[in-house]
Amino acid sequence: MKPRQIKPDIYSVGAIDWDRRLFDELIPLPDGTSYNSYLIKCEKTALIDTIDPTMTHVLIKNLNKLGVDGIDYIIANHAEQDHSGSLQSILKLYPESRIVTNPKCRDLLMDLFLIPEDRFVIVNDRDTLSLDDKTLEFIYAPWIHWPETMLTYLKEDKILFPCDFLGSHLATSDLFVTDEARVYEAAKRYYAEIMMPFRTIIKKNLEKIKDLEIEIIAPSHGPAYAEPEFILSAYRDWVSDEVKNEVVIPYISMHGSTKEMIDYFVNALIEKGITVKQFNLTKTDIGKLAMALVDAATIVIGSPTVLVGPHPNVIYATYLANVLKPKLKFASLIGSYGWGGRMVEQITGMMSNLKVELLEPVVIKGFPKEKDFKALDRLVDEILKKHEEHNILNKEVRGLK
Ligand code: FEO
Repeated sequence: MKPRQIKPDIYSVGAIDWDRRLFDELIPLPDGTSYNSYLIKCEKTALIDTIDPTMTHVLIKNLNKLGVDGIDYIIANHAEQDHSGSLQSILKLYPESRIVTNPKCRDLLMDLFLIPEDRFVIVNDRDTLSLDDKTLEFIYAPWIHWPETMLTYLKEDKILFPCDFLGSHLATSDLFVTDEARVYEAAKRYYAEIMMPFRTIIKKNLEKIKDLEIEIIAPSHGPAYAEPEFILSAYRDWVSDEVKNEVVIPYISMHGSTKEMIDYFVNALIEKGITVKQFNLTKTDIGKLAMALVDAATIVIGSPTVLVGPHPNVIYATYLANVLKPKLKFASLIGSYGWGGRMVEQITGMMSNLKVELLEPVVIKGFPKEKDFKALDRLVDEILKKHEEHNILNKEVRGLK
């Protein structure tokens, strides 16, 4: 991809990675991603973040195409490899350049990339840096999603460069958002997988930038936002304490007993006007499961018994749900066993991060019978009651009772 101008003297010079399908060897990337880097070319030249080391050649080619023969400052908003992995190459190519960052990020960059200390210029929260005709302001925003993260604001052009924050894993030829529905989905997935564990801190960081006049948000993944309110209001919704009238059901069934229970349970929830998001863990994209957890009020995990415990895939999904710290309010468990097991203790023991009230699980012997379906009805009624008590239901749903 060639360099593209986002405003006079400001260029997007990063790379689109159409083919990448996994991040951190964990996170699915169904739509690829991009590693955005931005060049501000005025009296002094500044490069905002670098890119993933696998695509350093694209960044260098773009700088050459723009005739960049010197870089004064490389702004490092975040030390993670997909934004700092090209630093060593750029420092070598432009030996006069200095890295501008905060002390925590400097320490990480020195550790991760063995960059010598004398290549750094340290800035504090709200410090500014003059490029002569433009001014950069640095805003500390720790824990989105590493401890050293900061944002860079270009005052004269009212552009916020937030690195990971507000971004999306989306490979697209669009420099700016054109298809809002597509970007909303990708940005929500990104929030769910990467930012959700830091929800309360992100809320504070959103507060910190609320008085900035922002005309463009140019993140380091996905397209830029010419209408910043689109992504800011989405984030305000995701980080809010509000939950939706939704039940997320990750499950596995080996011989059909658990599946029979899940099918019955799901239909009963739907009949009561509750939205259900069901995930068969043998086939699920874990990103979709993470997205469903952003808004839901309740999780109900379904599992057969394997060697006295839950199915290992259920353990994996429960572990993920626990570390992602969604704002769930209620949890329960549905499952079946042949001759015994400790599934309930094991699953609930893995939910220490979740601030949920546990609703009485329905774990049965063998294939479900009449009394077991009654127990599932009882759980559905309990969920409905809890959602109602917490004002999670809308008026129309209340009318269905
Ligand atoms: Fe896009 Fe935290 O790296």
